[in-house]
Order: sequence, then structure tokens, then C-alpha cells
Amino acid sequence: MINKKSKIYVAGHKGLVGSAILRKLRSKKYFNLLLKTRKQLDLTNQLKVFNFLKKNKPDAVIIAAAKVGGIQANNKNKAEFIYDNLAIQNNLIHGSFKAGVKNLIFLGSSCVYPRDCKQPIKEEYLLSGYLEKTNEPYAIAKIAGVHMCSSYSNQYNLNYKCLMPCNSYGINDNYDQNTSHFLPALIRKIIHALKNNKDHIKIWGSGKPLREVIISDDIAEACIFFLRKKTKESLINIGSGVEKSINDYAKFIMKYLKLKLKIVNQKNKLEGTPRKLLDSSLAKKYGWKASVSLEDGIGFAINDFIKNFIQNEIK
Ligand SMILES: NC(=O)c1ccc[n+]([C@@H]2O[C@H](COP(=O)([O-])OP(=O)(O)OC[C@H]3O[C@@H](n4cnc5c(N)ncnc54)[C@H](OP(=O)(O)O)[C@@H]3O)[C@@H](O)[C@H]2O)c1
Repeated sequence: MINKKSKIYVAGHKGLVGSAILRKLRSKKYFNLLLKTRKQLDLTNQLKVFNFLKKNKPDAVIIAAAKVGGIQANNKNKAEFIYDNLAIQNNLIHGSFKAGVKNLIFLGSSCVYPRDCKQPIKEEYLLSGYLEKTNEPYAIAKIAGVHMCSSYSNQYNLNYKCLMPCNSYGINDNYDQNTSHFLPALIRKIIHALKNNKDHIKIWGSGKPLREVIISDDIAEACIFFLRKKTKESLINIGSGVEKSINDYAKFIMKYLKLKLKIVNQKNKLEGTPRKLLDSSLAKKYGWKASVSLEDGIGFAINDFIKNFIQNEIK
């Protein structure tokens, strides 16, 4: 088990979830942290990753590094989504094992579950049906990661876990037009429409698919909580229970900003899995639950977007 003196390596600390983990660790007074940018350590390079782990011997590794993106990026770059993710997680999980690391958290994504999965989704439904085609290669890489964690944990008596969060958003999110997830994309579209005096926003698909969302800070809390917790299971869902349709999230953001724009649904565009609601009762049984409300979370994200993107555009 880790303590405040433990050496913790956060892979991907510049990303949405990784930066939230870093903030949370520091706020809890974990200061013995190992951090490397992509420039300093390319995680797809096996030799460099193995040597780095062997030399530094962390007590715990949190894998928040991955090739991540929304439906468009996943659908267009399937080769990179499967290769990069398999390479990063193989190097980090096997490299950690070789370096004697006892505690490891690997972050998955709820797209690993079958497209037409029974809802709410329990961990045991993994591999019970066909995957959503647009992100199948990404999901297959993540499923391999789930099995690496459980196999190494069981065979070698290690604390290697995969936490499976629902869609995330928050401070330091990716707002790129081509690669962002649906919620940051909605925030960007709505604020840009406001800035440019437009009376409508366009949304891919019917707007009807249901999505559960969690702020990255709550995922970060779960990572630290489960690094410190002995569990029988090595796959644990991390959901908030907050679920709405994509159009309803757009309306929620508009209401928050006190404005009303017309929603134009582009029905010829991709829209993904109809519903992805996680059953997080296992995490709750161990004592973890999400704590940030959607209203507060959306407020943090909007302020961060305005501070870091809109103000730069205005300058
Ligand atoms: N965002 C979500 O909605 C969501 C939901 C559920 C689960 N997750 C999971 O949480 C994890 C983190 O996601 P995120 O949204 O935080 O992603 P993100 O913002 O894109 O961050 C990913 C991080 O990984 C780093 N990285 C990627 N390839 C690398 C490489 N070859 N070498 C070194 N570093 C590399 C990136 O470095 P650069 O900064 O240099 O690009 C970035 O810091 C992923 O496993 C994802 O599946 C995310």
C-alpha cells in the first residue's frame, strides 16, 4: 500500500485526467512524484520506458497516458488508436512488473463494454457482446489492458487495477475541433456561437444517445483511493450516475450560461453507442463515490475554457 512518502509515477500528467491526478496528489501532500513529458519520454518506446522504470523504481504507477479522442478521431485513426495504446500500456504495465512495482492503476474507458450492453453496465458484462465499430480498435487495446492488470495481479500477487471511468470533462480538457470528446465540444460550440452572435449550434447525430459524465477530479480521487485500497477485483467501474442525452447536455450548458440557442442535429453524422451508463456499485461498496455535481463541474470547465482559450483568441 502507498503512503505519503511513496514514489508515484503519473504517466500522462499533462492530460485532462493526468493533470487532475497531479493536482489531487499534491493537495493530499503526496510530493514524491515522478513526472516526464512526452518529449522527455516517449511511452511507445519500450526500451526507454523499461530503463526509466528500472532506474527509478516507483512504488506506484498511474497510467493516465493514452492516445485519446472523440468519435471522429477514433473513427479516422484506428491504426494509431490501437497501436499507440497497446504500446503505451504494454510498456508501462510489463515495465512496472519488471521493475518490481507493486501498485499500478490503469485507466480504461467505458467504450470497452458491448455496444448494446444491458444497462446499467456491470464489470462482468465485459466481452459479452459486439463493440461499437467507431472505436473498436481503441476499446480492444483497453480490454487488453484490463486483462494485463488482472493477469499480473493474480499470477504475481500484485495490486494492479483497471479503473473504468465514464465520459470525462473538466479543467485542462481538449477542445480541439477534430479530436475532442462530446462535452468539451459542446462547451466550445456554445461559447463560440455566443461570441460570434450565432443563433444555433450543430450537433453530430440525433442528439439522443445517453451519456454518463464525470469530472476528471473525481476520477483522480478514485485513482488515489483505489491505490490505497485492497480489492479482490482488478476491474472497477468509476461512474457518477449523472446521465443525460447529448441534446440535454447542450441545453444544460446553455441554461448555465443563461442563453438559448437552436440545436440543429446533423442526422447524417456518426453518433456512437446509444447508451453507456455504468453500474458503479462495486466502487461504492469499497467506499468511493463521485462528489462533484454537474452544475459545479460544468462551471469549472466553462471558466477554464474561457480563461485558456477564448481569452487567448481575443488577445
Ligand atoms: N477524457 C475522457 O472522457 C476519458 C473518459 C474515461 C477514461 N479516460 C481515460 O483516461 C486516460 C487519460 O485520458 P485524458 O482524457 O486525460 O487524455 P489526454 O488529455 O489526451 O491526455 C493523455 C496524455 O497522454 C500523453 N501521451 C499520449 N501519448 C504519449 C506518448 N507516446 N508518450 C508520452 N505521453 C503520451 C499525452 O501527452 P501530450 O500532452 O504530449 O499529448 C497526454 O498528456 C486515458 O486512458 C483515457 O482512456 C478518459
